[in-house]
Amino acid sequence: MTTSTAQLDQQTIDIVKSTVPVLAEHGEAITKRFYEMMFANHPELLNIFNHANQKQGKQPKALANTVYAAAQYIDNLEAILPVVKQIAHKHRSLEIKAEHYPIVGEHLLLAIKDVLGEAATDDIIEAWGKAYGVIADVFIQVEREMYEETAAKKGGWNDFREFVVVEKVPESDVITSFYLKAKDGEPISDFTPGQYISVRAHIEGEQYTHIRQYSLSDSPSKNYYRISVKREENEQVPDGVVSNYLHDHVKEGDVLEVTAPAGDFVLNMDQSEPVTLISGGVGLTPMISMLNTIVEKQPERKVTFIHAAINSKTHAMHDHVKEISSKNDHVDYYVCYEKPTEEDHSEKRFNKEGYVDVDWLQSIVGENKGDFYFCGPVPFMKVVNSALKEMDVPEAKIHFEFFGPADELN
Ligand SMILES: Cc1cc2nc3c(=O)[nH]c(=O)nc-3n(C[C@H](O)[C@H](O)[C@H](O)COP(=O)(O)OP(=O)(O)OC[C@H]3O[C@@H](n4cnc5c(N)ncnc54)[C@H](O)[C@@H]3O)c2cc1C
Ligand code: HEM
Repeated sequence: MTTSTAQLDQQTIDIVKSTVPVLAEHGEAITKRFYEMMFANHPELLNIFNHANQKQGKQPKALANTVYAAAQYIDNLEAILPVVKQIAHKHRSLEIKAEHYPIVGEHLLLAIKDVLGEAATDDIIEAWGKAYGVIADVFIQVEREMYEETAAKKGGWNDFREFVVVEKVPESDVITSFYLKAKDGEPISDFTPGQYISVRAHIEGEQYTHIRQYSLSDSPSKNYYRISVKREENEQVPDGVVSNYLHDHVKEGDVLEVTAPAGDFVLNMDQSEPVTLISGGVGLTPMISMLNTIVEKQPERKVTFIHAAINSKTHAMHDHVKEISSKNDHVDYYVCYEKPTEEDHSEKRFNKEGYVDVDWLQSIVGENKGDFYFCGPVPFMKVVNSALKEMDVPEAKIHFEFFGPADELN
């Protein structure tokens, strides 16, 4: 793809670049105001955006950071293409379309004016309007290509497709798997281990639909998709909307709406280098898909599976991984429990008590470097990321997924 800033004159580029620091300073205030105004004028968009992310300010932060990063590179947008692609996967899986972009653009400019007041001169607003147009075009073009590729795949589709829950299997006290088969009985698209689908829930009594992403937790060689969902229950804050709906209300035979697999957190199958899969809690779902796929397709490839959970009550799929590792000399399995139960102790179900740390990881991995994939709660991911850096793992070998809007790990 090409990114064209040819439509932007030098004066526009200069204005945009020189005002990035001012906007960045007010970044979150602007995007917060932007969402307020956009949802007031276009309440239908509340069917797409995650309300909990809005309340916690996570999405405003992610969008603000990206707009300013893009503006900084307004004369060299090629430089931010990897970031654009990662977001575009999410947008595609949410069915964001070209016609949505002008709505965002219009309200972003309104919010800049509203927050900056007189400091936002006509020249500044005009320059940002043009710059947004160029940035939006890059997203629209990348996403158009993704929609085309998705639809062209065997079994692929655009828009939401109906899937029947054919089986619902508890995996631990807090995680349950849902096996999904296409209602139309037609083939379903292949995917790369690590990818996710979006599920759209129509919940009785809720004014809006709710869309959430779930990583596929089995290998692609099946005629179903499997997702494994953790129930989000927290004492001080409202319960998670979709995870609790899936656990409590969705039964075998019910229909869920799903978009085609997406995401750039994917297992590299072109290589046979060792792989270390490190997960915390429900972050194990993409790792199980990767493990199952390697065992099926690359049985000689060395895999180290490291999982951290509170204890065996919350730990999902332990028997499955244990069985794979006991049958396959190339698969090693390590478990870390934060608060093991008495039974966990007596049955020696774990290798480490407490938290994952650099010394433990180093003692497992040794010189056996290769690719590292990790996923889990953000504090866990920060520890793993800094441990891998301390272990001199090259950046290109470190791959991770956030189970929410992208965050900072450093
Ligand atoms: C790429 C990707 C893959 C994912 N894969 C999986 C997976 O395999 N399995 C899985 O279980 N999840 C996965 N997730 C997470 C999933 O998409 C949902 O975010 C998760 O199920 C919670 O959704 P919910 O509707 O239950 O909670 P939401 O209603 O979205 O709430 C999110 C969290 O915020 C809390 N909360 C709600 N309101 C407030 C408030 N006002 N203040 C503070 N906190 C609040 C809730 O208690 C909850 O913990 C993935 C996410 C991504 C982005
Ligand atoms: C150039 C314009 C845009 C930029 C820079 C942008 C940026 C982002 C970023 C950074 C994320 C978080 C991705 C992640 O980490 O998972 C995101 C998610 C999202 N975007 Fe965009 N976006 C743009 C346009 C749009 C448009 C036009 C829409 C639709 C109206 C849209 C809807 C969403 C939704 C629904 C999410 C998921 C987040 C959630 O629900 O909390 N975006 N976008």
